[in-house]
Order: sequence, then structure tokens, then C-alpha cells
Amino acid sequence: MSVSYVSPGRVSRVSPGHAALHLARAASLAPSPHNSQPWLFAEEGHDHGFEVHLQGGRRMILTDPGGREAVIACGAALFNVRIAVRGLGFQPVVDLLPEPGNSGFLARVGYGTHAPATPEETLLARAMPRRHTHRGPFGPDPVPDALLDDLSAQAWTEGAVLQVIDEPEKLRLLADLVRTAEDLQRADPRQAAEIIRSAGPDGVPVGACRHHPDATPLAGRDYLGFAQYCIRPRRRWAGRTGTVAVLATPYDSRTDWLRAGQALQRVLLHAAAHDVMAAFHTQPLELPSLRAEIRTHLVGGRFPQVVLRLGRAPHTWGTRRRPHAEVLLHDGVPVRWRR
Ligand SMILES: Cc1cc2nc3c(=O)[nH]c(=O)nc-3n(C[C@H](O)[C@H](O)[C@H](O)COP(=O)(O)O)c2cc1C
Repeated sequence: MSVSYVSPGRVSRVSPGHAALHLARAASLAPSPHNSQPWLFAEEGHDHGFEVHLQGGRRMILTDPGGREAVIACGAALFNVRIAVRGLGFQPVVDLLPEPGNSGFLARVGYGTHAPATPEETLLARAMPRRHTHRGPFGPDPVPDALLDDLSAQAWTEGAVLQVIDEPEKLRLLADLVRTAEDLQRADPRQAAEIIRSAGPDGVPVGACRHHPDATPLAGRDYLGFAQYCIRPRRRWAGRTGTVAVLATPYDSRTDWLRAGQALQRVLLHAAAHDVMAAFHTQPLELPSLRAEIRTHLVGGRFPQVVLRLGRAPHTWGTRRRPHAEVLLHDGVPVRWRR
């Protein structure tokens, strides 16, 4: 289906299927850069299938001009759709980039053979609403090595590598690269404004940014403009960084970004199911020269897609989502426009 907003006058007589609503709700729970939610979903009528589309206009124009991170977010949404289809008792049949001339049409998911969800899939489904992005220091308990091994295996299942960065020299290098990128973005008034604009009731919750972005060795985004007002962190929490990891893929095509998104979400859900949350530090991946350094020195020549910290969060914040009536299209028409 080619998706574009059409006039509200266009009327569809068929209601969206219950399954489509269920899948749209699950998909919408995915993470996205600064809660931009750059997606649209479409049902293929009578629950024949479900489509994931990029809504390119919602990407972060300055920090993600090529849309790589927006596609990763849609890949994460696609993973949630796959798990939600399993919850309905079917095997998802996924076709990535099904229309070669339509780069915004990212995936079509059909209902395959009937098979009940496995306990692991049920665990991932239950973790969807419990997963939240963390910012600031983690609690004191480290992530157990066995869980880190499991998380690496989860990424591998989706064709990506989760590289834990634990050698002090490499950690220092990564922290320096995050710092450099963050300083450059804070110094650019337009980029700083793009980040500050994304905090608020429909974006990143202000409460989730209550820690100073420089409170841990990996600099965070300055959503509240602390740097503008020269506010310094009251305390540094070097011991509460958590485990640092880079998710990387062998290549860097649009398909790889979709794979990275699915791997990311599988890792995040498996972690959340074990009470481990993630903080994101993707700033250096938005600058080609810094991304190249991470590629060369930290992930063995693979393409870094996401930088994470993992740990036990003392407190988490839910983040608002666009209503499904806005993101789910039926016959090319948002559900809320139908009469
Ligand atoms: C590709 C990608 C990059 C992200 N980069 C950052 C980041 O650099 N800093 C940050 O605080 N959050 C980052 N996030 C997390 C989003 O801000 C978060 O997913 C969004 O606000 C929704 O909140 P939730 O994850 O708690 O549902 C990123 C998410 C994605 C998918």
C-alpha cells in the first residue's frame, strides 16, 4: 500500500480489525529518538496483514538527517509487531522493504502458520509496557555476566552484535567521543534547540531528565538546557554508569538499520524482563567522523548503530505515545478520520 495522508473527506466503510489495533498498540511502545515516533502503520484490510511505514517528516531533521535512527526505531516497532503476532498465536511472515521503489514502506507482516507463543516470547510481550529509557546514574547492582551473555545472544539472533565495552581504555575512548559529539551539538544553537524542543508532555518527560546530563561519564542529551544556563552537576556518579555496550551490524544499508532496530528491541525487552533498563548515548553516531572512530576502534569494523548503558534503574518514567487513531491507517486513511 502506498501511504500518504489523504483528505479527511475520504471515507472507508470497514472498521480496523481488532488484531490491527492490537499490533498498532504494541508497535507504538517501541523506543524512538527523543520520542519522535516516526512511524505509520497500515492494515491490509480484514486482518490479512500489517504494514510498517516510515513517517519521514517526523525524523529529527538536524541530528538524524539521513533517517538512520528513525528507521532503527521503526525496526524496533516491527519487532514488537512480530512478538504481538506471536501473542495472537501465529508465526509472523515478514517481508522487509517489500516495494523496491518505496523506501518508506519498511515492512509487511503477514499471519503465517498457527503456533502458540513460547514462554520466551510471552516474557518479551509482557516486558513491552514495562520497558522505559533511563537517563542518569543507575543503581549500584551490576548487570550479571550471564544476563549480558544472554543479551548478546538476543542481538545475534537478529543478525547484530552487542559489543560490551568494558576495557578501561576503550571505555575512556567512547566517553571522549560521546563528550565531543555532545559538546558540538550543545554549541550549535539549532541542534541544541531541536533537543530542547523534544522535552515536554508529548516528548521526553521532563521528570526523566532530572539528573544533570553530565552526571555520568557518558554525557547525556541536554534536554533541559542545563549547559545554556551554565548549571553544573552537583555530583558525578562514575560508579553508577552501568554496563556500556554498542550494538553494531555487519553492513549499513536500510535493511541493516531495520535489523539493528529489531535486535535493539529484542535486547531491550529481554533486559527489561530481567529488571534491567537502558540509557541511550547515540550522539557520536550522528557525526560521520566520530562514528568511523567507534567503528574502527570499538566494534571490529562493523557499523555501530546504537550506544547503550545497561543497569538497574531506581526509577523509570513512562513516555506518552501518539494515539493509535493517528498512527494506524486503514485504506490509507487514519482511523480517526473515518466516519
Ligand atoms: C535510535 C535511537 C536513538 C536514541 N538516542 C537517544 C539519546 O541519545 N539520548 C536519550 O536520552 N534517549 C535516546 N533514545 C531514547 C528515546 O529518547 C526514547 O526511546 C523515547 O523518548 C521514548 O521513551 P521510552 O523509550 O521510555 O519509551 C533513542 C532511541 C532510539 C530508538
